[in-house]
Amino acid sequence: MAHLPARERDPSLEAAVSERKKMTLPGLFKKVDEKTPITWLTCYDYPTAYLQDQAGIDMILVGDSLGMTMLGFDSTLPVTMDDMVRHAAAVRRGSPNAWLVGDMPYMTYQPSVETAIRNAGRFMAECGCDSVKLEGGAEMADRVAGIARAGIPVIGHLGLTPQSVSALGGFKLQGKGAHQAKKILDDAKALEEAGAFCILLELVPDRVCQLITERAKHCIIMSLGSGPHAHGQLLIYHDAFALYPKFKPRMAKVFADAGAVIREGLAGYVKEVTAKTFPQPENWFGMPDEEYAELQRLLKENRS
Ligand code: KIV
Repeated sequence: MAHLPARERDPSLEAAVSERKKMTLPGLFKKVDEKTPITWLTCYDYPTAYLQDQAGIDMILVGDSLGMTMLGFDSTLPVTMDDMVRHAAAVRRGSPNAWLVGDMPYMTYQPSVETAIRNAGRFMAECGCDSVKLEGGAEMADRVAGIARAGIPVIGHLGLTPQSVSALGGFKLQGKGAHQAKKILDDAKALEEAGAFCILLELVPDRVCQLITERAKHCIIMSLGSGPHAHGQLLIYHDAFALYPKFKPRMAKVFADAGAVIREGLAGYVKEVTAKTFPQPENWFGMPDEEYAELQRLLKENRS
């Protein structure tokens, strides 16, 4: 931590980050060619980004899900571009090496191609992102094409698209029926043709994900709850580490119960402060006797 004296930092952890190579677009496609699944997690803050970088995560998504996971809203809709810029820049500072994706929040790309390009540019210029992601299918192809033409790598997002949760009828599986599945396949083709280098499929049946992955020509297909056949997997960090108090989606696996560890630590803190067993001498700093005597003398002088 920045405020700790250098001797208390763990140099081996810092080395892990500095020795890692920066993930690039050719690096991601190399993993696809080698059939090595790409790892992707959401992240919204500096210390978590640091941990994810150490763990060797390939891609980090600063998702507008931060509206729910970090800000406590019931949906992603209230999230602004300024919220995203603040969080994405912090994540970049914590993770210099992962491929960083800025998630375009509600109404920052829907109004026009120009709005989309300007806001995508903010992620690149103000946060050091490597790419952006936006939701929607063929109807967003011109936004995707505009952003790609501006030289910004862009990711499409199909299936359950949380910004349209009202129109989709809730947070539920998309593309279960053949007609809806065909529409998702058509949308994936339209996004790839528009220049998306990657498409995220959220909560679609595994077979639909497999068909899209098999048909993709120059596009990386990522799965969130859409099965094992994609080129890689995405999870929401707060779901994977039991940090979101309201619910855990069925498809998310809890890899470690960080919530339980933190809760236990908090209870310990309350207990020790109450019992006066914290702090101990190693938790505070003393003052030399002669300085203290001088301080007493100064105080006495002031009184007279
Ligand atoms: O905002 C986000 O984290 C996302 C995921 C749900 C894919 O877009």
